[in-house]
Amino acid sequence: MGVQICPSLLSADFANLGAAAASVPGADWLHVDVMDGHFVPNLTIGAPVIEALARTTSLPLDCHLMIDDPDRWAPDYVEAGAASVTFHIEASRAPVRLARQLRSLGARAGLALKPATTVEGYDDLLGEIDMLLVMTVEPGFGGQQFLDICLPKIRRARELIDKRGGEVWLQVDGGVSPDTIERCVDAGADVFVAGSAVFGADDPDAAVAALRRQAEQANTAR
Ligand code: DX5
Ligand code: ZN
Repeated sequence: MGVQICPSLLSADFANLGAAAASVPGADWLHVDVMDGHFVPNLTIGAPVIEALARTTSLPLDCHLMIDDPDRWAPDYVEAGAASVTFHIEASRAPVRLARQLRSLGARAGLALKPATTVEGYDDLLGEIDMLLVMTVEPGFGGQQFLDICLPKIRRARELIDKRGGEVWLQVDGGVSPDTIERCVDAGADVFVAGSAVFGADDPDAAVAALRRQAEQANTAR
């Protein structure tokens, strides 16, 4: 699997989400950040908005749930039209059951780790998921500075995934930009979320293309 770029709508104009989605036709996924004001100190959007977005774009939706009790709520996002649903290990009571449920509903299942959550100990879960998300900022807000201390974890996650074999994507989210994406590629990430680096640019689709080129080049050099 090659490099994939997922613009995060968190940095787009929330009053014009349809236009924001249409402004990045070259993206692989649209990353949608769902925050509940409990798991993180910010509140964004829920399933009805995902449903409206799914109707307006042909890009697949990558829903990142930063919410308490994903065991209760995550399946609703598949029903709403998300092709991939990622929940946080810190919030889930029964991650294996939840990942299986998401997959059985037809979505890809993603598992997210906050910066202070180690990847060790989750080796056996890799068979249950399609994507591992290593957060490179504390979840909650766009435009934060990339946390370099997460790079060794990305590297260890890559080793675990490769050792096990199979197709688990390794996503990074937070502070991904032209300044940091090469470090992420070098550590082994292959799916890149970028909010402010895309929607803060004059031409969001050109920013997506530039990030992709940079990541592909770094990948070849790896
Ligand atoms: C942060 C969100 C990110 C956010 C990234 O909690 O999960 O997806 O939009 O924004 P940037 O790329 O600006 O750090
Ligand atoms: Zn996110």
